[in-house]
Amino acid sequence: MSDIAAPEVRLWQWVEDRARAVFRLYGCDEVRTPIPERVEVYVRALGEGTDVVQKEMYSFTDRGGRAIALRPEGTAGVMRYVAGAVAPGQDARLYYLGPMFRAERPQAGRKRQFHQIGVEFIGAASPVADAECIALQVHLMDAWGLAGYDVQVHTRGLPEDQPAVRKGFQDHLRPLISGLCEECRRRFETHPLRILDCKQEECRNIVAGTPPVTSYMSDASRAYFDEVLRLLDAAGVRARVNPQLIRGLDYYAHTIWEITHPALGAQDALAGGGRYRIAMAGRDIEGVGFAVGLERVLLAVQASPQPPTPDPSEPVIWLVTAGGDAARAANLGLLQKLRREGVAAGMDTGGRSMKAQMRAADRSGAAWVAIRGEEELAQGRIKLKRMADGTEDLVTQEELPRRLAGPGLPPLP
Ligand code: HAM
Repeated sequence: MSDIAAPEVRLWQWVEDRARAVFRLYGCDEVRTPIPERVEVYVRALGEGTDVVQKEMYSFTDRGGRAIALRPEGTAGVMRYVAGAVAPGQDARLYYLGPMFRAERPQAGRKRQFHQIGVEFIGAASPVADAECIALQVHLMDAWGLAGYDVQVHTRGLPEDQPAVRKGFQDHLRPLISGLCEECRRRFETHPLRILDCKQEECRNIVAGTPPVTSYMSDASRAYFDEVLRLLDAAGVRARVNPQLIRGLDYYAHTIWEITHPALGAQDALAGGGRYRIAMAGRDIEGVGFAVGLERVLLAVQASPQPPTPDPSEPVIWLVTAGGDAARAANLGLLQKLRREGVAAGMDTGGRSMKAQMRAADRSGAAWVAIRGEEELAQGRIKLKRMADGTEDLVTQEELPRRLAGPGLPPLP
């Protein structure tokens, strides 16, 4: 788990601001769900046998004896919210961002507290919604200035097809089971399709010879996926069909996708998503969505040819008090006046010497320094110094804001 502070946090804010701007274009509203949820929310949504539920949740019993987990992902909590807040048959477009928790083995690009930005389009299965959601995901990548990412899509088929897919795949693999790695031999009964995802050489070789899982699906499932591919093309999204893509959560049905980025190394998944059907509070909630790992986005943004350089929070001007209490009080008044005019400004609060204040002005990175003592106060003037070249000038308090070129916020009332 990491602290995120300046200067890096400015890049986080930039990434978040860009995302919010994109979400507005797609009619998404933010939802902020609690970080702890009842464990059963995750068990029900993600699936009892998934790695996340089995091995990775930070769970505990609270003082009321309830089994609670810190959210390992955002979709389940959003579905719990939707079950109570969105009427059946009504569509909704939601986004969220914030910390998620998984007790995984930490490594580059894998943290125990990490952050996701996610989107959920609630609504009945529709290839148009799936294609639009992937288009939004790609729009987000482009808004962050990322290049070279790879969009891989595949399908899980209709939920009704899944037993046949599983059985077909298992039947094919059964004679070859002894050649699989230990983990995959275990998965064979519980999550056979995860074998497609295994990174071990022996499993990859075996899997390479298996028929595509779509061959076990109904015509309806295949037609749905073909339509998604056609619509992605129409939406200008370049995506590659990856027949090995499977995703690690049980709630998916129909379209699934993942985005990888070459800057990420072994943990190269920048984002993942898909269509799902989740049983929650006596309802079946359908939707399509994705989540992006923010730590990984930051790595990719920093590796891009022209990484953004968000404005540092430096003051534009530093006020230096030469003299006693009256000048200091007048300067505090000026400080607030400047800030309300949208000029970032600072001054010493410790009653330090002129010399120490000038050093602080230098350290602050301010482009201007204003010096005012009893004498300037009596004359109604302020000595203004430009730090870049040391030029000095006497100005009135009224003139001051206009003289300060540089970035600032619009004036506040
Ligand atoms: P996920 O694939 O488990 O999907 O996670 C999405 C992204 O979160 C990953 O691609 C990765 O970038 C990031 N991520 C996951 N675990 C870690 C970690 N330990 N450290 C750093 N980054 C990590 C989901 O969470 C689904 N809820 C996505 C979704 C939304 N599907 C439908 N709607």
